[in-house]
Amino acid sequence: MQANATVKDYIRTIPDFPKPGIQFRDVTTLFGNPRGFRMAVDQLLHPYAGQRIDAVVGLEARGFILGGAIAHQLTVGFVPVRKKGKLPGKTLQQDYTLEYGAEVVEIHEDALQAGQKVLLVDDLLATGGTAEAGIKLIERLGAEVIGCAFIIDLLDLGGRARLEAMGMDVHALCA
Ligand code: PRP
Ligand code: HPA
Repeated sequence: MQANATVKDYIRTIPDFPKPGIQFRDVTTLFGNPRGFRMAVDQLLHPYAGQRIDAVVGLEARGFILGGAIAHQLTVGFVPVRKKGKLPGKTLQQDYTLEYGAEVVEIHEDALQAGQKVLLVDDLLATGGTAEAGIKLIERLGAEVIGCAFIIDLLDLGGRARLEAMGMDVHALCA
């Protein structure tokens, strides 16, 4: 990789995964590169410098990898939003729709306190359904989402507009 490589340069595209016609953006090559991973974490945090952030919420599964690193950098706690049935304590549940069918995500009901300021993190924004469900869970706990940070925004799929229509600040590193 060249010395002036950007975050996007570290992301690999795999054709026809998980099904024919899908160009899958694979961030494992970014996470696996020490320079690329640090650049991604630093750039995701850049717009929020000086802002109060009390907790980082990451969306399963790749949002855990990024969110853990970002929370460590900020010296705040990390809170997972998980797919149904994985969290052991009492949870709040939120439905969301996928291209085919519906999904449910959960958060521990004691994971955030009312009034806390939260940064939501995931690797990729597509339709925005997953992020919207995460935002709803955070807000149902009385906390406030101060920003939604993604490495990739698949612009054609409308996620940014969907989140901005909810009043969210959306930050992405590449398309
Ligand atoms: C991917 C991605 C986001 C979500 C984006 O996760 O990491 O979480 O899809 O799609 P959306 O904006 O249309 O909701 P996936 O559902 O593949 O789950 P995984 O990370 O557990 O594999
Ligand atoms: N990569 C990873 N996750 C995704 C993608 C992708 O290209 N599209 C929808 N979710």
